Amino acid sequence: MESAKNYIEKNKDRFLEELFELLRIPSISADSAYKEDVIKAANAVKDRLKEAGCDHTEICETPGYPIVYGEKIIDENLPTVLVYGHYDVQPPDPLDLWDTPAFEPVIKKTDIHPEGAIFARGSCDDKGQMYMHVKALEYMTKTNQLPCNVKFMIEGEEEVGSVSIGWFVERNKEKLKNDIILISDTGMISKEHPSITTGLRGLSYVEVEVTGPNRDLHSGLYGGAVANPINILTKMIASLHDENNHITVPGFYDDVEELSKEEREKMAEAPFNLEDYKKALDIDAVYGEKGYTTDERASIRPTLDVNGIWGGYTGEGAKTVIPSKAYAKISMRLVPNQNWEKITELFKKHFESIAPKGVTVEVKPHHGGQAYVTPIDHIGYKAAEKAYEDTFGKTPIPQRSGGSIPIVALFEEELESKAILMGFGLASDAIHSPNEHFGVWNFLKGIETIPHFFQHFTEMSKK
Ligand code: BES
Ligand code: MN
Ligand code: MN
Repeated sequence: MESAKNYIEKNKDRFLEELFELLRIPSISADSAYKEDVIKAANAVKDRLKEAGCDHTEICETPGYPIVYGEKIIDENLPTVLVYGHYDVQPPDPLDLWDTPAFEPVIKKTDIHPEGAIFARGSCDDKGQMYMHVKALEYMTKTNQLPCNVKFMIEGEEEVGSVSIGWFVERNKEKLKNDIILISDTGMISKEHPSITTGLRGLSYVEVEVTGPNRDLHSGLYGGAVANPINILTKMIASLHDENNHITVPGFYDDVEELSKEEREKMAEAPFNLEDYKKALDIDAVYGEKGYTTDERASIRPTLDVNGIWGGYTGEGAKTVIPSKAYAKISMRLVPNQNWEKITELFKKHFESIAPKGVTVEVKPHHGGQAYVTPIDHIGYKAAEKAYEDTFGKTPIPQRSGGSIPIVALFEEELESKAILMGFGLASDAIHSPNEHFGVWNFLKGIETIPHFFQHFTEMSKK
């Protein structure tokens, strides 16, 4: 039987060229100007799934962007792995900070990726990682080594809150029935320290609007006598954290799951170097909630952050004006047990209550989702652990991530199965940022590791 390593070595140039073709499609779900490209990407994924060996592929329409579905069912009595990924990408801006154009993929060497990394929007998040599964399927079908059934569900709205996938999952429970969900849309600690993501944070995303006078005013004639919505908004935002960087929204921490001393000690064993962390970001100090380490602040603790703030005059030169309105976009990352709808409600109530007389405040909920955890004694986790042992020669470290894939908790609720998060990206891959990239080594290692997961999961399911 041909090994995955061998097959990959022979075909890697073609694998990369195929991925490049997908990366050239600017499938930006947030921007309606790219609607045709988003749909083009969906069709390309469907075609690639067919070529890789799916017996049935389909473009499933939703109220939003379509979901690409594919399957290869070899025996009803064998387990079924459902692969989830997304073909949409974040907007590439600010464009001038890209060294090479975002949708013209190229391979360039970096310190961390001496064998080269693929630079393009979506290379790591998530086209490159999703495509590892397509090529792993190709290997398994072309060499007659697919040990179980496989289904694919690749969506096009992940970067805008997965609005339609809940709708789709609810209506297609039978079609999506599976024994385990497999996702590569996260990262790992480093090439030397493979890790499996065991947790994702939840999210509540809101927009706030503060309104003062009914029109923009001359800041000399009115300044000092009426509430300035920007002054007020910044004051309100500043009050959302106390001197220890705890969030001040009443009830915010009520349901937060506190980790035991043992669990925190275990977490602290994972390799983490604060000096390297600061250096990579060009900062002279870290900042965050008192009583927690940087790793904890960015994974097991909830947060509240302003993502954008605007209002008044921001053009060239100076304009003396008291704006009528001020706005901000705020995200709260949540941890297991916190309910995002409840948190959104608590935030809304609190934010409205702290508004002084002279302004009105509106809080508009955007989207959200629950946090997620995979227990490390789950058979899916155990199978993944073995797969990494096979290909990295090391036991992977379980790691809770700070990022969110809100749909994962919903899969668990609706489809009653756990998700295994086998991510191969690195923190330095700059996802959502200019110069996003994905190591060629990581891409190929992912393709190699996935079939081992299929093998172990099928074997362990028999017992
Ligand atoms: N793939 C990321 C999430 C991620 C990245 C999790 C790295 C863990 C490690 C995903 O595409 C993403 O960007 N999610 C959004 C949430 C969504 C609702 C826009 C996020 O985390 O901001
Ligand atoms: Mn992603
Ligand atoms: Mn993303």
